[in-house]
Amino acid sequence: MYNVVLIGCGHMGSVHLDDIYMMENVCIYGVVDVDIERAKLFARKYHAVSFDVSYERYLQDENTDIIICATYPESHLKILKECVKYHKHLLCEKPITTNLKQAEEFVSIVQSSDIKVQIGYILRFNETYKKVAQMIQEGAVGHPIIMRMNQNHHVMDWEKYGMLLQNASPIVDCGVHYVDVCRWFTGSDVAGVSGIAMRTDHEVPQDTYNYGLITLKMADGSIAYYEAGWGNTIAAENLKEFIGPLGRIRITERTNRPSCQEEGDLIEYYSYPEKEYKTINVNCKRRPTGAQLEHLIKMIEEDIPATPTIDEVFKSFETVIEADRILKQNQN
Ligand SMILES: NC(=O)c1ccc[n+]([C@@H]2O[C@H](COP(=O)([O-])OP(=O)(O)OC[C@H]3O[C@@H](n4cnc5c(N)ncnc54)[C@H](O)[C@@H]3O)[C@@H](O)[C@H]2O)c1
Repeated sequence: MYNVVLIGCGHMGSVHLDDIYMMENVCIYGVVDVDIERAKLFARKYHAVSFDVSYERYLQDENTDIIICATYPESHLKILKECVKYHKHLLCEKPITTNLKQAEEFVSIVQSSDIKVQIGYILRFNETYKKVAQMIQEGAVGHPIIMRMNQNHHVMDWEKYGMLLQNASPIVDCGVHYVDVCRWFTGSDVAGVSGIAMRTDHEVPQDTYNYGLITLKMADGSIAYYEAGWGNTIAAENLKEFIGPLGRIRITERTNRPSCQEEGDLIEYYSYPEKEYKTINVNCKRRPTGAQLEHLIKMIEEDIPATPTIDEVFKSFETVIEADRILKQNQN
């Protein structure tokens, strides 16, 4: 039995606990939030043994085995250091930190410590993305490929997005996932990055933006764009499409399908020169946090590497930080 402590009882904290609280080898030992009411609510909802506003007591407690960190990136490095000090394994949300210098420190600590650290690159555990990665790597669309991706949010709650913006721009926040997807699907490094950005809403601080679009050139000749906007007038949109000379693959998440209660994610595959369409229904969880925790437990028990490795995590982070620098320089 693993005693797990969650730090950060917000949106992603609940996504983690929803998927793991019923696991037979997991005990929700503690839940922590700077807002005591949230911690109390989570303790009641997920039958946690205890709750608190600060995490220190859980780190010092020899019964704690695993920390799940679902706070904002500004606190991730500090929590990692505490986990190393008290020898607690860590499942930490992305992005690893807010800047490159801290990210380098984060990586070097992970590499030199004897705790196990898995970063929340959840798409690596998503059955739909795993299937598409396999199809592309087996040549389903040919090579090189075009990757068209966006993740736009219609903002209804600026309090939450304001906090996120203080930590990461839209391009950095989820961009780490999609730069990682580009590297994973093509098996290739990013060779160049560029982009444009704009601040459209008065709620957005002057020194950042709420709409960004980046383009990537991969070392194998593939190209990609990733668009991310959070705004009062931006429509929610979720495009994930991969095109090559021999075909096209498009992912539609179950939440964007008309009868999402019954069906899974949809993979639409068009092949050329056959000119044939094929559809695949993947019964998958959008955020398979349970599979991610199971992987961390395997890392502890069988000494297998993290997925992706901390080097791969750093590479996608480095790319979005460079994109962010360019975007802020070019911003309207
Ligand atoms: N992997 C994914 O798909 C995914 C999706 C959404 C968010 N995230 C990441 O998860 C993290 C949290 O985002 P969210 O959307 O859940 O935000 P949120 O605002 O919903 O929740 C964050 C919670 O952490 C608490 N908190 C902040 N600092 C704390 C501290 N030092 N100690 C204890 N509690 C603290 C806040 O009070 C809040 O309740 C971010 O890094 C975000 O990028 C990942």
